[in-house]
Amino acid sequence: MKYSIDEQKIIIKANRETLRPNWEDLDYSETDKGRKLPKPTVCKSYKNAKVFELIKDVPSLSGKKIDEIILARRSVRQYEEHPMSLVELSYLCKLTSEIVKMGPGYAMGVIPTGGATNSLETYLYLNKVDGFKKGIYHYMKDTGNLQLIREDITDELVNDSMKNQLRNCAVVFFWTTTPYRAEYKYSFTSHKMIAIEAGHACQNLYLAAEAIDYGVVGIAAYNQKLVDELLQVGKDEFVVYLAAVGKKIKQ
Ligand SMILES: Cc1cc2nc3c(=O)[nH]c(=O)nc-3n(C[C@H](O)[C@H](O)[C@H](O)COP(=O)(O)O)c2cc1C
Repeated sequence: MKYSIDEQKIIIKANRETLRPNWEDLDYSETDKGRKLPKPTVCKSYKNAKVFELIKDVPSLSGKKIDEIILARRSVRQYEEHPMSLVELSYLCKLTSEIVKMGPGYAMGVIPTGGATNSLETYLYLNKVDGFKKGIYHYMKDTGNLQLIREDITDELVNDSMKNQLRNCAVVFFWTTTPYRAEYKYSFTSHKMIAIEAGHACQNLYLAAEAIDYGVVGIAAYNQKLVDELLQVGKDEFVVYLAAVGKKIKQ
């Protein structure tokens, strides 16, 4: 254990405070927004990365009803050896990450985010997707396409970073946060909202996947250092949540 019992107590106390920030103590005039500092960008883009188009007008792939989907959702950790199709990948990306309106300092889309601050970026490890090489891809908020950011990786590297939870899934979703996007407006009240935001993204993925007979497991027990290294992030942007997705085994 890295932390002594006493250190753990201090961390637990601080983390509990993060979960109950007092909004009465937030003075908007003293935030970076209140002080008229430049707005943070809410859309990350990699220059010179190869772009892969997703299907934008993806049809509804599910005949299931929303109540049926919500009630059937479970975490799924075993999958069929079945590659995901481009249309299925497009469907899951759209329902999890699509942005429909964006401007300086804000973005709105399929998930709610505190004050539309949209602190998350979505990355994917495409393990078994028809027509795609294995690699780490970034979802582009502005175009709804993917950018290939790394091919020089192995299943072992990904699996280690996920603490052996890659299994035989088709795709891993990684959500990073850039906390400053929220801190700019909401200072010390931001971090609880960021965690909730990541929960919204993953819940959308759970439900969208269930709709098309894929299974998901949300993963918080990953190796922070290795997963940040995998995505080449770690300081002002870091991973907060992951999820493995694969075709459900027929019962
Ligand atoms: C924030 C969060 C983190 C989780 N992390 C993991 C994880 O690292 N590994 C895992 O196998 N399951 C993980 N789970 C899945 C839970 O174990 C699962 O949701 C719980 O057992 C309830 O089962 P259900 O999702 O089928 O209802 C996580 C769930 C949540 C909400």
